Amino acid sequence: MADPTIEALYEESRLFPPPPNVLEGAEVTSREIYERGRDPIAYWEQEASHIQWRTPWTSVLDWSNPPFARWFVDATLNVTESCLDRHAEATPDKVAYYFEGEEGDTRVITYRQLLEDVCRLANGLAQLGVSKGDRVAIYMGMIPEFPMALLACARLGAVHSVVFGGFSADALADRINDAQASVVITCDQSRRKGQTIDLKRITDQALERCPSVHHVVVVERTGADVPMTTGRDVRYHDLVADQPAERPATETSSEDPLYILYTSGTTGKPKGIVHTTGGYLVGVSSTHRLVFDLRPDDVYWCTADIGWVTGHSYIVYGPLANGTTSVLYEGVPDYPDRDRYWAIIEKYRVTQLYTAPTSIRTFMKWGDEYPGRHDLSSLRVIGTVGEPINPEAWMWYREVIGQNRCPVVDTWWQTETGAMVIAPIPTVTPTKPGSATIPLPGYQADIVDDNGESVPLGGGGYLVLTHPWPSMARTIFGDPQRYIDTYWARFSDREHNVWRYFAGDGAKRDNDGYFWLLGRVDDVMNVSGHRISTLEVESALVDHPAVAEAAVIGRADPITGQAIAAFVTLRAGIVGDDALLAALRDHVAERIGKIARPASIVFTDELPKTRSGKIMRRLLRDISEQRQLGDVTTLANADVVAEIAARAQAQQTPSDDR
Ligand code: PRX
Repeated sequence: MADPTIEALYEESRLFPPPPNVLEGAEVTSREIYERGRDPIAYWEQEASHIQWRTPWTSVLDWSNPPFARWFVDATLNVTESCLDRHAEATPDKVAYYFEGEEGDTRVITYRQLLEDVCRLANGLAQLGVSKGDRVAIYMGMIPEFPMALLACARLGAVHSVVFGGFSADALADRINDAQASVVITCDQSRRKGQTIDLKRITDQALERCPSVHHVVVVERTGADVPMTTGRDVRYHDLVADQPAERPATETSSEDPLYILYTSGTTGKPKGIVHTTGGYLVGVSSTHRLVFDLRPDDVYWCTADIGWVTGHSYIVYGPLANGTTSVLYEGVPDYPDRDRYWAIIEKYRVTQLYTAPTSIRTFMKWGDEYPGRHDLSSLRVIGTVGEPINPEAWMWYREVIGQNRCPVVDTWWQTETGAMVIAPIPTVTPTKPGSATIPLPGYQADIVDDNGESVPLGGGGYLVLTHPWPSMARTIFGDPQRYIDTYWARFSDREHNVWRYFAGDGAKRDNDGYFWLLGRVDDVMNVSGHRISTLEVESALVDHPAVAEAAVIGRADPITGQAIAAFVTLRAGIVGDDALLAALRDHVAERIGKIARPASIVFTDELPKTRSGKIMRRLLRDISEQRQLGDVTTLANADVVAEIAARAQAQQTPSDDR
């Protein structure tokens, strides 16, 4: 191939086999499971035996109308029977959630209590007129009533649409209107970093333009005095007070919708990703068991917010279907101090931690002192999700948090895939720092070039999934054509009935067949005709001992097409001067090649991030190209933008300085 789609430049040769201590007592220790996974139909059918069905399926997969799949055709179930009833019966006193409030208040919720509370709320919602197929918007902070709200909807066969509790009134209103939700469940306020956020007030503002909403259920979290609209608003505690603690689960088909979750695309309005019940529950429960080497006495903790898909799949549905004991934490990692996560791990003897690369890089920046204060010896498997993790951050996670004892599971997936797709099995798959390794059993992935041709090992291109999987998104709510256009049009060949799901990510595959995610394809730069991943340059920068975090973008350049612009946060105590700037450019040149040497480097105390922690590269591109900045109100730290812009102008070096 003369012109590789994406050049793979960053070489990583470290390999970590599963540590012997993890193998002891593990359920899956042989590669045979990958063999089994080569037949996805047989594999997923077997995995389906772990959840509870009412009526069995007539066939595992109906793919006669691609790209619209039906899994476990004609089967019926209610997901809450798998998540609650069977555990409430078999192990009623087993803890489902250890809740840890940000201020240190705690609640312990057993499976029996969880089932009863969910039934009470389901009865209350039914009284408000909610029934099968209705949409319910949920806008809450991380308290136990949040998962209860999702499950109460599921109990009734209603469709929940969770809106992240950091979104604005406008974003909430848009999502409510798109889904035509009839009820909203919210809190008086949520807590974050010692402050309160007025969720009810924001909801009221949103509802000024949401005619579909008839009722608002308000959970009391802080006890703040919030205005209640008579006839519309009802207090959660009043609603559930006299409800029976039982509620028969509504039977749903395996293809009835379970939820809608909005995800932003590069352009246009948010897409309402639709997930259904049967296949979704099979996918999330199976991957959760396998990738976390789950055992009955584990205490598992996923630090995500339930407002994102990670929380839906790996705080609520996957763990509960598996009867897991989880930690549910309300707040931020640096309240009251920067050791809060490590204190929680020590307190509950957490065995699995699942967090995000952006957090890991932040912990790295804060320094080893904070984890050093606590006993982390209970940890067995540690995971990451959400964006590519740089090899150095991966190594820090392994060494400082995992203490060289815990396999790191880097899990690649998306809102649209519903469940993990590419990730190691910690008791089987040797890992490499920065690689999500290989597709899990039951999945088929490939890397293709611009023409849709499969790229041989060693090359880079676009990541596609070549066989349907049970937890795949079924459509975009109200817009099936957009579902086809966004995900299936680019690399499918309809004439020959070849269907390939395009994830929007660039990836390369090394000679061992390991996948290396390179970020969204719009994060690929073209410098002098060379296509270079921003991630590889970032990894090289973070590889330098002075650097905590780096973001790299391609800015328009009259000579080279794009020039590489880097934004760098230094580790505590290090000063960014001209000497360091030169050293970093040399370091990248040394690590990857001169072609990847940043044309400019701006030192900044923080990088602009979305509320879910993703670096806003688009904004950095706007700053670098001196464009008028768009709306920054969805940023978690909007005030850093002006500072970066000022420094960027002062520091830009000419692009021919290479
Ligand atoms: O670009 C990939 C990145 O996050 C995108 C999906 O984002 P979202 O739908 O918000 O879901 C996040 C949680 C599953 C992907 O297209 N991404 C997610 N996990 C990884 C990742 N990139 C690299 N490595 C990962 N482990």
